[in-house]
Amino acid sequence: MIILGIETSCDETAVAIVEDGKRILANGVSSQVKFHSKYGGVIPELASRKQIELINPILEEVRRRARIKWTRIDVLAVTSNPGLIGSLLVGISTAKAFAYLFHLPLYEVDHVEAHLYANFLDNLSRASSATTTPLELGRRARKQGGDTLEMPFIGLVVSGGHTSLFLVKGHKDIELLGKTRDDAAGEAFDKVAKLLGLPYPGGPQIEKLAKRGNPDKIKFPRPYLHGSYDFSFSGLKTAVVYYIRDKILDFRTRINKADIAASFQEAVVQTLVYKTIKTAREKAINRIVLGGGVIANKRLRSFFRSEAGKYGMKLSVPPIKFCLDNAAMVAARAYYSKKVSG
Ligand code: KG4
Ligand code: ZN
Repeated sequence: MIILGIETSCDETAVAIVEDGKRILANGVSSQVKFHSKYGGVIPELASRKQIELINPILEEVRRRARIKWTRIDVLAVTSNPGLIGSLLVGISTAKAFAYLFHLPLYEVDHVEAHLYANFLDNLSRASSATTTPLELGRRARKQGGDTLEMPFIGLVVSGGHTSLFLVKGHKDIELLGKTRDDAAGEAFDKVAKLLGLPYPGGPQIEKLAKRGNPDKIKFPRPYLHGSYDFSFSGLKTAVVYYIRDKILDFRTRINKADIAASFQEAVVQTLVYKTIKTAREKAINRIVLGGGVIANKRLRSFFRSEAGKYGMKLSVPPIKFCLDNAAMVAARAYYSKKVSG
């Protein structure tokens, strides 16, 4: 089954063609990051206008790279929620027009759940390798293929708009245990970066700056919200604001931005990792599956690996490129929600 996935929930225009929910025939993402960075964040009205400009060229480019005709597509999958309404509508309208024209079924996909399905994709290198021969691709596919994720697992999605903890027992049995009560973790990264004078998106900038800082220098709070599966990062962000204000008022001390970045990052990382592992232990589940843009953070990835290892838990983490918004994960989510019982 060949699925055409479309993802336009925010400032990425993404299209992918995926076979049987895992083999990526082509994957294209056109990011507007540079365009929005001059405004310090995504401007929804401009994002949707850009989506309209970009969607057709990227569709055609992905089809060409997959080397198939449109008539080979069996199913359409599109992110329908959550996201910026204007941006979402571009993807949904495109998918509906396509489905109408070719008489195809159209599956609407939840963006947050789709992030977890980046872990179900195999042959991930194929999408980006224009120079690799089909022979080489086949060899890689055999090496990586056949490894579907066992359930149940605890899923954690950490992105710019969401921090969500799931108990996944089957493809049609996904229970949301907890979510952010205020700022998502990625949003906190972006806002703290802004405070430090770093450009949008702030997550990768904080990560870069943190490498030069001391993560133990400033004791920022760890918002564990004991007794709840929810998250809350706005208090931590406010703690950073007060720390900077106090330093500015106290003329004798210098602000060390790298220490702030490293200490803030460490507080977010420890909160996410300890809370997820605690949930998995409470539920007696020994597999954790991660997804979302913040999972691209190398400190977060390595701390998850070491802590999961300590408790003998299996951990699935997508390659960095598939942590960020893409349409292959949308196609995968549609495939598994409809085709495979679970
Ligand atoms: O999943 P995503 O691409 O889009 C949404 O669905 O929101 O996530 C984007 C978020 C942004 O807040 C960005 O700052 C954050 O992911 N992010 C990172 C890193 N790379 C992206 N946060 C921390 N460290 C990173 N390396
Ligand atoms: Zn996302």
